[in-house]
Amino acid sequence: MNPLNHIAIIMDGNGRWGLKHKNSRNSGHKAGLNTVEKIIKETIKNKIKFLTLYAFSTENWKRTQSEVAGLMKLFRRYIERETKALFKDGVRVRFIGDRQKLDDKLVSLMDNLELYTSGNDKVHLTIALNYGGRDEVTRAVQRLAFEVEQGRLSHKDVDAETLAKFLDTRFLPDPDLVIRTSGEARISNFLLWQIAYAEMYFTDVLWPDFKKEDFIEALDDYQKRERRFGKIN
Ligand code: IPE
Ligand code: IPE
Ligand code: MG
Repeated sequence: MNPLNHIAIIMDGNGRWGLKHKNSRNSGHKAGLNTVEKIIKETIKNKIKFLTLYAFSTENWKRTQSEVAGLMKLFRRYIERETKALFKDGVRVRFIGDRQKLDDKLVSLMDNLELYTSGNDKVHLTIALNYGGRDEVTRAVQRLAFEVEQGRLSHKDVDAETLAKFLDTRFLPDPDLVIRTSGEARISNFLLWQIAYAEMYFTDVLWPDFKKEDFIEALDDYQKRERRFGKIN
């Protein structure tokens, strides 16, 4: 058995699903939230401790104003609606990404959800919102350089472990498995540093259509992989 501690998901294909079924991309985003609920439950059932979901990238601001506004509204609604249920299910929620560009109302809902669920430990849900791997590393290096400038850290002590402590994900183990839905076989700036040795799983299923069975299929596929980490088994 390969240990499976952390699954990270690039939830892709909402827009295409929405256009196909209801003629609007935003309806696909809304439908995608149902999958989120299901997958959190499956993660708990399968005793996987960490789940990280890519909700909005630093590049997604390049979409139309109406799509971006729709998504931001959906994030606010989701937090307002789900806070109590997430708490009850033992989910500890944290956000990664740059909060500075997000509106105050959303940020305060995010802060509140983090605080409200901070005592939970059943499953650790991390939501990547206004997240980009390059942006994360850049912000980390900025903070690290500041520590050096202030004389609190020597450049000689900077190793991979030190740098990792400045990343948004400092509280997370590296993902074991990355799932991307919708048929695209790319990373799109997700967890660039952290996925060094993650197993990648790509499926054509669009995120709103991604079912429990598809999730289990990904877990089964992961168990067939031989992880080597550079060694010879
Ligand atoms: C993923 O679905 C959700 C976000 C990026 C917010 P998309 O909106 O990228 O859906 P497609 O890829 O256009 O179908
Ligand atoms: C990645 O999907 C971002 C999220 C799922 C939040 P995109 O749809 O933005 O990625 P590209 O543009 O197809 O690479
Ligand atoms: Mg997409």
